[in-house]
Amino acid sequence: GEKLKVALLGCGAVGAGVLAYLRARPDLFELNPVLVRDLARHGEDARFTDTLSEALAGQPDLVVELLGGADYPAEIMCSALRSAAHVVTANKAALARHYDALHACAEAGGVSLAYSAAVGGGAPILETLARLGGEVVAVQGVMNGTANFLLGRLAEGQLFDQAVREARARGFAEADPSADVDGHDAADKLAILVREAFGVALPPERIAKDTLRDVTAAMVKAALARDEVLKQVGRCRRLPDGRVEADVRIESLPLDHPLAGTRDENNRFLVSDAGGRVHGVYGKGAGRWPTAASVFADIMDCQRALLRQSAAGKPRGEAMPLRLSA
Ligand code: HSE
Repeated sequence: GEKLKVALLGCGAVGAGVLAYLRARPDLFELNPVLVRDLARHGEDARFTDTLSEALAGQPDLVVELLGGADYPAEIMCSALRSAAHVVTANKAALARHYDALHACAEAGGVSLAYSAAVGGGAPILETLARLGGEVVAVQGVMNGTANFLLGRLAEGQLFDQAVREARARGFAEADPSADVDGHDAADKLAILVREAFGVALPPERIAKDTLRDVTAAMVKAALARDEVLKQVGRCRRLPDGRVEADVRIESLPLDHPLAGTRDENNRFLVSDAGGRVHGVYGKGAGRWPTAASVFADIMDCQRALLRQSAAGKPRGEAMPLRLSA
């Protein structure tokens, strides 16, 4: 049968999970050597490389970008898209800063750019915004699993540094956890939500943010005494004059508030539409498996689309420049 030729860039918390999913379907996917930062960790294993050109060799059908950073991975994705490879990514920092350039490159290449995992991980927030079309007036949410975890641990009396170590061990935290602690990761996600919900480009640097470093044990205690809980909440809304407001704040919420849940779902969103309805979207937004599953769902979408196209007898490289490797 026909297999999708896949280049996987990055093998960290999420990448290693995606790699396991891809390897479980050798009937569907043919894998290039996986791009890793530290080749020594993988010994002599030829299935890995630290050289980008080797990872991208032979015109892959699909590039899965799970590197850290923003500008460098965005450049790689742009050139992959322009050369007509589909791209799946979970890179919120790259999308928040290069959203329009990446979409323009996808259009130029006649290929798809999918990033469901970039916001909400396993919570289908971007899908919900897409279905509501232009009807969204506001979104608020807990959109950083690490901040959620840290605030929960502080409420249990744990020390901050110890809680950060645990968040890293669980695969929630960014390589540099200050992205989580200082609200940059939430601001990146909010910038993507603003772009998708309102069509407005809002640079994440322009979004005001609170830092968890300012949270004291006394604040946590006082909240609990009021039957409230501290949460890092990102909010955005469209004003009647078309401008958009967005910020990331640490807020004290009543325990029965829909964003205050303390169970498994570490991402929670409330989407308000023009008809006054509120749509709740909950899920696991951080961690290897929920995020990898969401990335893999995008990969499967791409695989099915290519299969349909090839079944419809469309010549490869014409209507859409797609190449399925035999
Ligand atoms: N560090 C991020 C978080 C990972 O904690 O939410 C998921 O985007």
